[in-house]
Amino acid sequence: MLVHIKDIVKKAEQNSYAIGAFNVTNLESVLGVAQAAVKANSAAIIQVSESAISYMGLKPITHIVSTVAKNVAANVPIALHLDHGTSFDSVFECIGSGFTSVHIDASNLPLDENISLTKQVVKVAHAKHVWVQGEVGAMIGGHGNIRGALKKVPLASLEDVIKFVRATRVDTIAAAVGTAHGIYDNEDIVFSLLKAIKKAVPIPFVLHGGSGVQDSKIRKAIKEGVNIINIGTDLKIAFCQTLIEVCAKNKEETDPRNLLKPTIKAIEKVVIEKMKLFNSAGRYLVGGVET
Ligand code: G3H
Ligand code: ZN
Repeated sequence: MLVHIKDIVKKAEQNSYAIGAFNVTNLESVLGVAQAAVKANSAAIIQVSESAISYMGLKPITHIVSTVAKNVAANVPIALHLDHGTSFDSVFECIGSGFTSVHIDASNLPLDENISLTKQVVKVAHAKHVWVQGEVGAMIGGHGNIRGALKKVPLASLEDVIKFVRATRVDTIAAAVGTAHGIYDNEDIVFSLLKAIKKAVPIPFVLHGGSGVQDSKIRKAIKEGVNIINIGTDLKIAFCQTLIEVCAKNKEETDPRNLLKPTIKAIEKVVIEKMKLFNSAGRYLVGGVET
C-alpha cells in the first residue's frame, strides 16, 4: 500500500531499525522492490533521482509506483520519495505529483545558500504535508561507480549540521559521514561524527551511499540511530549483471519479457538481504499492522 513516508519512518525511529530507500530506474526495479517488501514483510521507500524521472517521466513513474504499491504490495507500506532534488522547480513538481517526501540537495552550495533554498522548499512542502530531507556536506563518488579507492572523503561539519537543521526545520537530515555514492574499497562511517549529529539533532538520519559499506558498519550505524539507508548502486549492478548474463545465454530470444524477468528476481533478492540487514524485515503482518 502507498503510505506517507512519516508513517514508516516514525515506526523505524521508535523501534530502532532502518528503512531501505531503494533507487529505482525502471518497472523491473519497482517490481523487484515491491515483491521484496511483500516477501520480507517490510516497509520500503521507493526513491527516484532526477535522472530516473527524466528517463521514465514524472507522471508515469508516480503512477507505476502508486499502482504497484497498491496491487503488488497491498499488505506492506511503501512510500515514494525524490532523491537528490537539485532545484526548487524539480522538488515542486514532485510535490504536485503526489510524493510524500522530497530531498532538496543544495549541499554543494555555501551553507547560507543551502539553508535559504532548503527553507523555501520546507515552506511549500510543509503547507502540503510533505516531508523534506536536507543535506549538509556534499557526498562524493557517483551512482553506479564500482571499485577503486577514495582519496579523501569530505565530512560534514557538526556545527553546520546543527545550524542547518535548526534554521530549516527539515524532517530528515543527510550529512556526509564517510560513505560515498557507488562502491569503493575503503568506504567507511565516521561514527564519532554520526553519534555527535544524532545527539545534537533529534530527527531521523539518512545514510546515503549505502552500497559498498560493510554489513558490520551498517549494523553499528543503525544502533547509533540511522533510520533510512539509501541503496542505489547495488540494485543497478543486480539488474545489469543479470541482464548481461541472460542476454549472452539467449542470443536468439525475441520476447523481451524472457530477458527482463530474471532482473526482477535479482533485484528482489538484493532488497530482501538489505531488509534483513536493516532489521526492517518481518515487521508487518497481513493488513499492514506492525508486529
Ligand atoms: O541517493 C542515493 C544513494 O545515496 C545511493 O548510494 O549508490 O552508494 O547505494 P549508493
Ligand atoms: Zn545519495
